[in-house]
Amino acid sequence: MATKTYILSIDQGTTSTRAMVFDHSGSVVSVDQIEHEQIFPRAGWVEHDPIEIWNNTREVIGGALGKANLNSKNIEAVGITNQRETAVVWEKATGKPVYNAIVWQDTRTQKIVDELAGDEGPDRYKAVCGLPLATYFSGPKVKWILDNVDGAREKAEAGELLFGNTDTWLLWNLTGGAENDGVHVTDVTNASRTMLMNLADLTWDESIASDMGIPVSMLPEIRSCSEVYGECKPGVLNGTPIAGILGDQQAATFGQACLEKGTAKNTYGTGNFMLLNTGTEQVPSENGLLTTTCYKLGDEPTVYALEGSIAVTGSLVQWVRDNLGMISSAAEIEESAKKVDDNGGAYFVPAFSGLFAPHWRSDARGALVGLTRFVNRHHIARAVLESTAFQTREVLDAMNADSGVPLTELRVDGGMVVNETLMQFQADILGVDVVRPKVAETTALGAAYAAGLAVGYWENTDDITENWGEDKRWSPQMDEDERERLYRNWKKAVAKTLDWVD
Ligand code: G3P
Repeated sequence: MATKTYILSIDQGTTSTRAMVFDHSGSVVSVDQIEHEQIFPRAGWVEHDPIEIWNNTREVIGGALGKANLNSKNIEAVGITNQRETAVVWEKATGKPVYNAIVWQDTRTQKIVDELAGDEGPDRYKAVCGLPLATYFSGPKVKWILDNVDGAREKAEAGELLFGNTDTWLLWNLTGGAENDGVHVTDVTNASRTMLMNLADLTWDESIASDMGIPVSMLPEIRSCSEVYGECKPGVLNGTPIAGILGDQQAATFGQACLEKGTAKNTYGTGNFMLLNTGTEQVPSENGLLTTTCYKLGDEPTVYALEGSIAVTGSLVQWVRDNLGMISSAAEIEESAKKVDDNGGAYFVPAFSGLFAPHWRSDARGALVGLTRFVNRHHIARAVLESTAFQTREVLDAMNADSGVPLTELRVDGGMVVNETLMQFQADILGVDVVRPKVAETTALGAAYAAGLAVGYWENTDDITENWGEDKRWSPQMDEDERERLYRNWKKAVAKTLDWVD
């Protein structure tokens, strides 16, 4: 009997690293997951230890295979998906990072970003890379490392350092690292979040790199999302091709089968990320969204997206758990919120990393407003949940304005979509249906699809569409006046968070 085969997907996220094995129907066969430390050296700084992430990756690969009694012979290909923008710089000769990974949420590059904006303003590079200047993206983080780590700039200029997001970091290590000439490659989706890639021709833009003082020699080669980049070298997956890479939000879009122009998904993770497939057309945003690559399969034309990125949604629930001790598990937030009918007038704007889309205000900081003695902890729990839905409404409004075609329903995924109270409120505040798919693990699944398509495990994208199925739908129940009243108050609350940082 022929050996049954599967695809293994590595999902290197902001808070944890997972390995998941999928079968041909797109169902999860096994999963293993390890959280890594969140390092906060100063206010606004967020770091990860790249070595810890690499060790966790090896461990979860072994764990996921072991749980399903599989070995490398059962795995046709590996896909990688990852937290985007988080920047790692390491020595080519030793594989040693010169500094911790600077995480996408980190705001230390504010000064660099302001200086780059100069008189031309934050949209200086937008026509080339699709992005406004913001602390969110990788380029300024790499500049910070080269400017601040002793000897880093000299080594980078001598060609001794490599840069990558965590996709590249893991690919390089999985394919042999320093000892076995690891493959230094990224895909078009990750590259599109550095500020360094020309969105039209998918090459590094030497003039932006030079403005940021980043030698192009340290940047990975940019390839499609679905092709064989190399093979795993020593380890449990020895000899298995790595054949798919997508940044996690693009992977979720792919896994959600948003393959037609005009389809969109919203992922509820540490932050929220809504992506609208705009087909092979790059749509410039007039309303605070990002223009980004959605996916590129081998030699096929590049598909683009408009994206609304929200920095803090699920991580607000973690903050309420870890920093306030108001709940002892993330799930408790819903139990608490359900004890009251509404927010009691309280609004929580979690501008912990400034505000991302559609505001792009790095000077914003969080605020809890509308308090009276009537407000209790359950109202605050409710305000915490509602903040995710209100921020999503801001992004959806921007998306409708940019695309000119209002969305009629929204596909959702990610950890928070198990929260029925939030999903109902989301439908209420958007005024459109919210739809959850049967396989909610769309991020890992999207990378698995990209890898499986490259090696012929799946024939074409029709297989993806056929595998997608609806699990649950929430329809709006709130009347229009109430919806707009709440949203007006939210906007007033947002206005209170601006101009906090000099
Ligand atoms: O842009 C940041 C995003 O890719 C992080 O996603 O799911 O790791 O919070 P997540």
